[in-house]
Amino acid sequence: MLNKILKTLLLIYIPFHLILTSSSSLVPQSFIHCLAQKVSSSNVSALSVMYVPKNSSYMSILDYTIHNLRFLTPNTPKPLAIITPLDYSHVQATVKCCKKSGLQIRIRSGGHDYEGMSYISEVPFVILDLNKLRSISIDTEDNSAWVESGATIGELYYWIAQKSPIHGFPAGLCPTIGIGGHVSGGGVGNLIRTYGLAADNVIDAHIVDVHGQILDRKSMGTDLFWAIRGGGGASFGVIVAWKIKLVRVPPIVTVFKLTKTMKEGAVDLIYKWQYVAHKLSEDLLFRITISSRIGMPGIEATFGSLFLGRTNQLQKIMQESFPEIGLRKEDCIEMSWIESVLQFAGYQRGESIDSIKNRINPLPDGYFKGKSDLVHKAVPFEALKEFWKRCSDANAPIIHIELHPYGGRMNEISESETPYPHRKDVLYEILYLVLWMKDKNGESTQKNINWIKELYEFMTPYVSKGPRGAIWNIRDLDLGANGASDTSYSKAKAWGSRYFKNNFKRLAVIKGEVDPKNFFYYEQSIPPLVLHAKRKCRRANFNFLDKCP
Ligand SMILES: Cc1cc2nc3c(=O)[nH]c(=O)nc-3n(C[C@H](O)[C@H](O)[C@H](O)COP(=O)(O)OP(=O)(O)OC[C@H]3O[C@@H](n4cnc5c(N)ncnc54)[C@H](O)[C@@H]3O)c2cc1C
Ligand SMILES: *[C@@H]1O[C@H](CO)[C@@H](O)[C@H](O)[C@H]1NC(C)=O
Ligand SMILES: *[C@@H]1O[C@H](CO)[C@@H](O)[C@H](O)[C@H]1NC(C)=O
Repeated sequence: MLNKILKTLLLIYIPFHLILTSSSSLVPQSFIHCLAQKVSSSNVSALSVMYVPKNSSYMSILDYTIHNLRFLTPNTPKPLAIITPLDYSHVQATVKCCKKSGLQIRIRSGGHDYEGMSYISEVPFVILDLNKLRSISIDTEDNSAWVESGATIGELYYWIAQKSPIHGFPAGLCPTIGIGGHVSGGGVGNLIRTYGLAADNVIDAHIVDVHGQILDRKSMGTDLFWAIRGGGGASFGVIVAWKIKLVRVPPIVTVFKLTKTMKEGAVDLIYKWQYVAHKLSEDLLFRITISSRIGMPGIEATFGSLFLGRTNQLQKIMQESFPEIGLRKEDCIEMSWIESVLQFAGYQRGESIDSIKNRINPLPDGYFKGKSDLVHKAVPFEALKEFWKRCSDANAPIIHIELHPYGGRMNEISESETPYPHRKDVLYEILYLVLWMKDKNGESTQKNINWIKELYEFMTPYVSKGPRGAIWNIRDLDLGANGASDTSYSKAKAWGSRYFKNNFKRLAVIKGEVDPKNFFYYEQSIPPLVLHAKRKCRRANFNFLDKCP
């Protein structure tokens, strides 16, 4: 009898319980009401900028900027809702309403985060997707531009080139990268040796803060303006637009690409390159890509160069500083700066310049995992040989490894001028990528991630130490992450100082000032350090610590 009652109870309770869990994964009504109220003051309704799972376009909006197939699986955690603001008031409303409903927010511009941190979380969350906020206005007289965060760098390059053949902007290579994440995290590209990072060329910004207010450079103050130029925006607020400084490029630049295999002396050339590339004229970028040979065994090294000048002069420089590469006149191609952007982005020669603003990658999407390093002292020849052997092993996955030289302008900027600390003594940056096109039951993922971790282990003695540096824009969760409830500064320091060295503390103190309750939290956000405030308070309150935050 009792059994029967229990059974009936269970029958009643189990479905009820299920209903409860599924309804708790819906976006709270309070949030919808709040948004409806706040957005109704403008001429669009809240519902038309919000996508929930039952909207038929929810998945296509979510997947639109996910290029890493690793995060395009049914098991990837999905947001309760995606908000796609059409103007800044929608951003302000989303921040205010998320805060009111205790909902976590993930901010996405171009979605290129290497760990998907702009659109994935294990906790219930809402995506603020800035994809539709993407106007660009260029002022060549003033050498500046206002660019909204949802614009891609490809669109920016395109519109600069439409306006002027002698202006450019120093940012990354892949044209579908979003301005929002890229500029706030640094931004390394072909003009780095002449003009530094994208973040080094910011004049002003508009940010929606934790109170839902729009601040500019003046009203945000020097600390916050410092933090968002390399410290990552998403710990501090939502950057809706950047004012950037346009830089000069000559109407004609020169490009070359030379590919070498092991037999053609690739390893000797890489070894020698380490002593040369960072010291060359700052108008000359000379980088290396080590990659698997498509459809052939082994790997090859491609020496690629962008020179802000003409063939004759480039040849002369290379003859003097790197005769081993054997650069011939016919290897050099003269073109406009925008054409060089297409070249390095991986487009075929002759492709229309319009392609770069299409928000479509020239290369097909795949699964990938990235890691980064900084090299301060040339890697010994024997180690390079072993590195090459590992990467060309028959069992090695598809690799794409970039060696990006620093020097030039990077030497002139101090470690603390912006949060991005990797400056003067860096010979070059390494981006390690493993790629795969299929993944049966997660097997390739496991295998390839293990492989890249071993390669990274192997490189330990030859790269920066104390701590081993990493590039913020090449996000790597293996370094560490915040716990959902434990976001202590001392714990986060272990991974935070790898990205920011001593600047991590200043970032945490600024975070403590602008967002002490940590509303803008995510898996690798800067934790608030309120030590500063406590000290101030302690002084004022004569040690009545309980009165202090
Ligand atoms: C294929 C590929 C090629 C790349 N090539 C380069 C390269 O050449 N050079 C280089 O330096 N990097 C490169 N990167 C890395 C890239 O710079 C970073 O991933 C960058 O953060 C991407 O910006 P996003 O807006 O596209 O990314 P998102 O994924 O949208 O955002 C990245 C981070 O920034 C935050 N964020 C985004 N928008 C905002 C905003 N408006 N306000 C506040 N926070 C925001 C997000 O929350 C997240 O934490 C590449 C990445 C990929 C996948
Ligand atoms: C999502 O679905 C709801 C209910 O059907 C609808 O009112 C709303 O307009 C849809 N949202 C979008 C952005 O299409
Ligand atoms: C709101 O209406 C104004 C005037 O009609 C228009 O210029 C603006 O683009 C509209 N805003 C949105 C987000 O549709």
